[in-house]
Amino acid sequence: MSKTYNAKFSSFGSFTPAKILNNFDLEKIVDTSDEWIRTRTGMFERHIASENEAASDLAYQAAVRAIESSSVKYKDIDHIIIATISGDHPFPSTACVIQKKLGLKNIPAFDISAGCTGFIYAIDVARQYVENGAAQNILVIGVEILTKITNWKDRNTCVLFGDAAGAAIISRAESSEISLIIDSLIEADGSQGEYLIQKAGGSRMPASHETVDQNLHTVYMEGNRIFKSAIKCMYAACTEILARNDLKVADIDWIIPHQANLRIIEALASKLKVPMSKIIVNIEKYGNTSSATIPLAVDEAIRAQKIRRGDKILLTSFGAGLTWGSVLARY
Ligand code: UT7
Repeated sequence: MSKTYNAKFSSFGSFTPAKILNNFDLEKIVDTSDEWIRTRTGMFERHIASENEAASDLAYQAAVRAIESSSVKYKDIDHIIIATISGDHPFPSTACVIQKKLGLKNIPAFDISAGCTGFIYAIDVARQYVENGAAQNILVIGVEILTKITNWKDRNTCVLFGDAAGAAIISRAESSEISLIIDSLIEADGSQGEYLIQKAGGSRMPASHETVDQNLHTVYMEGNRIFKSAIKCMYAACTEILARNDLKVADIDWIIPHQANLRIIEALASKLKVPMSKIIVNIEKYGNTSSATIPLAVDEAIRAQKIRRGDKILLTSFGAGLTWGSVLARY
């Protein structure tokens, strides 16, 4: 696709709520064990939003950190895109709530629903606005408070999720700059949507006493099916984006995959024939924070001076929809 301008990541920022729930705490809630959770998922603790914290509260903090880590001024942000499936309200969008919190006016603000792949989808959209000249600095945020739509009696899912927000500023880049979003790829297969779903609360099954009693407003997942598809689709998204840019996996400095399960990440690394030392993993500390896992992991790695300007990074994710995708960039 032809483009008029280049797009780049100006900066990242992230935020997690203060409260922490570890595997031993979960042992007191459901029939599980630290050993099972660690060996089956690689998780140990996760941050949990308090009763009065909503998605926009986490997203706002991540946004401020991203803006203040860049040379972009608040007034220079000309679009807001938020990837979330657990926003403040079904409507208005959480992006509009954030626009108000940031004191910004008269700029487009909208949410994207693509489950755990939401941040990749949001980058794909933001990149096109910047490349065609419609925007210069887009605030993109992945934020999720899945613990508020979790069935705390279902050990298959309640041990998996944590809450977090991760933000990035996507800006127009000069052609001389080393930083560049090289390519992005998004895909979906709606025929498998029922394997990872929040069944009630929409127009198919509006909220009623029955839906609440049956826990239909919480995350339902057929973990095993999702596990296999996640590896297959993230592998395909990585190999396809590398091939169409004439790159080999050895050319990539860091791979930052969605953090849903350490075994998925290890299987992906093994299929790609990449050592785990090149993969950014923080699942032990945060669990699965859905659309926030990738910007949270990238932000941490930048602040730890692992990812440096000019490094080639490959982001990949998989989630509800089903959806998957990848982003290739020089940071
Ligand atoms: O982020 C969006 C995408 N999400 C994902 O990619 C998640 C993909 N799925 C997974 O990560 C894994 O499938 C899970 C971590 C969810 C589950 O791991 P698994 O190895 O696929 O376990 P399983 O569902 O096949 O269950 C194995 C056993 C079952 O017991 P039986 O039937 O063999 O007796 C479960 O009841 O483990 C049992 N089990 C548990 N035991 C202790 C399930 N959850 C737990 C638990 N503690 N929390």
